Amino acid sequence: MNRRDLIRKVVLGSTAMAVLPSAITGCSEKDDNDDGNGGGKPSEKLTLDLTNQTYAALNSAGGFVIIAAKEIIVVNTGNNVFIALSSKCTHDGCSVTYNAANKNFPCPCHQSLFASTGAVINGPAATALKSYTITKAGNILTITL
Ligand code: FES
Repeated sequence: MNRRDLIRKVVLGSTAMAVLPSAITGCSEKDDNDDGNGGGKPSEKLTLDLTNQTYAALNSAGGFVIIAAKEIIVVNTGNNVFIALSSKCTHDGCSVTYNAANKNFPCPCHQSLFASTGAVINGPAATALKSYTITKAGNILTITL
């Protein structure tokens, strides 16, 4: 081995050592952020405090709140059961509302109608509203986005 070969091996070895820790860190970060669904992103949680006046409508059966910033409609369907769906109509993006008497979600723009699961009952929308997991613990609702 001549001097040039020695320098080349030292440089390559240094490069490998410099890259290896970052590769390990990259795997570690990905694992830390894995949501378990293969998406690789952590689940975002949205919490609503039912003692907050903003969400007072959710303390009554049939009451609902639209969280505009997240485009989510949250409904108290009664018997301590809550639903969280995307409020953005899949037809053309209008905000759906809730019809407590029929327990469904009409869109005022072109009269699409969605079930409490988010499924389309009547078009023109052809795609269901996204449904979110929602849990209640005490006065706190937690929606997993
Ligand atoms: S935007 Fe909802 S039916 Fe058209």
